[in-house]
Amino acid sequence: MNTNETPPARTLPKWVGPVIFLLTAGIIVVLALLAVSIMERRWEAQRPALALKPIAQWEPDNAVWGQNYPREFESYRNTRETGTRTKFGGGPPRDYLDENPRQVLLFAGNPFSKDYKQARGHFHSIADVTGTKRISEKSPGTCWTCKSTDVPRLMADMGVEQFSKTPFAQLKDRVTHSIGCQDCHDPATMNLRITRPALKEAFAAQGRNINEATHQEMRSLVCAQCHVEYYFKDKALLTFPWAKGRGVEDMLAYYDEINFSDYTHAVSKTPMLKAQHPDFEVYSHGIHAYRGVSCSDCHMPYRTEGGVKFTDHHVQSPLLNIANSCAVCHRWGEAEIRQRVESIQTKVAAVKQNAEDALVAAHLDLAAAMQAGVAEADLTGPRQLVRHAQFRWDYVSACNGMGFHAPQECTRILADAINGAQQARLAVARLLAAKGHSAPPKHPDTSTREKAAAIIKAFEAGEKVNLL
Ligand code: HEC
Ligand code: HEC
Ligand code: HEC
Ligand code: HEC
Repeated sequence: MNTNETPPARTLPKWVGPVIFLLTAGIIVVLALLAVSIMERRWEAQRPALALKPIAQWEPDNAVWGQNYPREFESYRNTRETGTRTKFGGGPPRDYLDENPRQVLLFAGNPFSKDYKQARGHFHSIADVTGTKRISEKSPGTCWTCKSTDVPRLMADMGVEQFSKTPFAQLKDRVTHSIGCQDCHDPATMNLRITRPALKEAFAAQGRNINEATHQEMRSLVCAQCHVEYYFKDKALLTFPWAKGRGVEDMLAYYDEINFSDYTHAVSKTPMLKAQHPDFEVYSHGIHAYRGVSCSDCHMPYRTEGGVKFTDHHVQSPLLNIANSCAVCHRWGEAEIRQRVESIQTKVAAVKQNAEDALVAAHLDLAAAMQAGVAEADLTGPRQLVRHAQFRWDYVSACNGMGFHAPQECTRILADAINGAQQARLAVARLLAAKGHSAPPKHPDTSTREKAAAIIKAFEAGEKVNLL
C-alpha cells in the first residue's frame, strides 16, 4: 500500500459549472421579464390603453387633458364641491362681511367693504370673478390673471402688457375655462411649469432664477403663481412686492418707497394698502416650509385607486382629507389632528379680532381729530401708523388657513398691528387734548353690516357724524 499517496481531489463533473451558470442566467432573465411586465402593467393602468393624444401647447380645456389623464381630471372636477365647512375654512359659502362687520368699516372706500366672500374651489373661478361686485367697468384685464387656463395663451398672443391693459369686460368672450391643467403643467412632458410671468419676475427681482427651483419647490411654486400678495403697477401690470423680501416688513418698506396706496380710507382719509392673499409668503415662515413640506403635500396628497397611486387633484382644505394628508407624516389620530389645527386657529382668530377692534377705533379717532380741526400735517404720523397696522392685520387676515400655515409669525404680526393701532390712538388723543377735547371720541354703532355701511355712507356724503 502506498500510504504516501494523497487522496484524489474531489472534482465535480465538468458539466456542473456551465449548468449552474445557465440556470442563474435563466432565472435572471425570467425575473427581468417579470419586472418589465409589472412595470408595463403599472404603466398601462396609469395611462389609458389608447395612445396619449397630443395636447396643444396652450390647450385651455381641462376635459381635453382629461382624456389622457382621467384620474387627475375626475379628482380635479371635485373642486366644484361646496357645503363642506370646517371651523374656519372648508367648503363655502361664507360671507365675511355678514360674519364680521368690522371688516366693512376697515375697508371703507374699497370694494372689499361691499363684497367679500370666502374663496371656493378652482372649478368656480370664472363664475366667481364675473359674479363679484368688486369687478367694475374700470377693472383691467389683469383681474383675469389668476382665474383661467385661457390666460397663458392670451398672454402669448397679445403680450403681457397688452393683455393687462385691455379692459376686463372686453376679454370676457375669450376667457371661459376655469383654473386647471394648463396653469400648472407642460402638456408635452406633464412636468410642472410656471405659466405666470409675475412670479418669474419676482424671483428675478430677488436675484434668483426660478428655473433652478427643485422638484419639491415646484410643488409649492405652482401655487405661488396665484396664492400671493400682489399689486397693479401703473394700474395694470401684475407685480409681487418681493424685491426687499417676502416678510410683512419687507413689503411695507417696498410700498412706502414707491409711495403706493390702494385706496383712501373713507372715514380716516388714510392712504391704505389692501393685502391680497399672501398664502405662499406666510407659509414660507412656518415649520412645514422649513422642513421642506410643500403645499401639494397637504392640499394634493397621493391617493390610491385600483392599485394605482396618483396625485389627488381635488385641491381643498386638508381637514376634509386628514387621513391622506397630515396623517401620512403625523401618527396622531384624526380627531387629535383636527383639534390641534382648530386650537391653533382659534388662538390666532382671537388676536386677529383684537387687532380689528383697535383698528376700527383708530379710524374713528382720526375722523374725530379732523372734526376737531387738528391740522392735516399733524395727522400724517398717526395715519402712517394706521396704514402699517392695518396692512399687518390684513397680511394675516386675507391669508387663508386662519394662521395655521405659520402660527407664530401670524401672532407676532398681529401683536405689532395692535400696538401700531393703539400708538396711533394715543397720538390722536394728545392732539385732541391740545384742542380742548379731553373726553374720548364718541364712536357710532357699527356692530352690524348694515349699521357700518350706513356710517360709511354718511362719511362719504359729507354728512356730519358727530364724534366729539
Ligand atoms: C402642513 C400642511 C399644509 C401646507 C404645507 C399648506 N397648507 Fe394650506 N392649509 C392647511 C390647513 C390645515 C388649512 C386650514 C383648513 C381649514 O381651516 O379648513 C389650510 C388652508 C388653506 C387654504 C384655505 C382652504 C380652506 O378651505 O379654508 C388655502 C387656499 C391654502 N391653505 C393654500 C395653501 C398654499 C398655497 C400652500 C403653499 C404655499 C399651503 N396652503 C400649504 C394645511 C397646509
Ligand atoms: C394647481 C396646480 C395643478 C393643476 C391645476 C393640475 N395639476 Fe396635475 N399635478 C400637480 C402637482 C403638484 C402634481 C404632482 C407632480 C409631482 O410631484 O411631480 C401633479 C401631477 C400630475 C400628473 C402626474 C401623475 C400623478 O397623478 O401624480 C398628471 C398626469 C397630472 N397632474 C394631470 C393633470 C390634469 C389632467 C390636470 C387638469 C385636469 C391637472 N393635472 C391640473 C399640479 C396641478
Ligand atoms: C391660476 C391661479 C391659481 C393657481 C395656480 C392655484 N390657485 Fe388655488 N385658487 C385660486 C383662486 C382664484 C381661488 C378662488 C376661486 C373661487 O373662489 O372661485 C383658489 C382657491 C383655492 C382653494 C379653495 C379655498 C377654499 O376655501 O376651499 C384652495 C385650497 C387652493 N386654491 C389651494 C391651491 C393650491 C394648494 C395650489 C397649488 C397646488 C393652488 N391653489 C394653485 C387661484 C389659483
Ligand atoms: C410631508 C410630511 C408632513 C405633512 C404631510 C404634514 N406635516 Fe406637520 N410637520 C411635518 C414636519 C417635518 C414637522 C416638524 C416637526 C419636527 O421636525 O419635529 C411638522 C410639524 C407640525 C406641527 C408642529 C408645529 C410647531 O409649530 O411645532 C403641527 C401642529 C403639524 N405639523 C400639523 C400638521 C397638519 C395639521 C398637517 C395636515 C394638514 C400636517 N402637519 C401635514 C411634516 C408634515
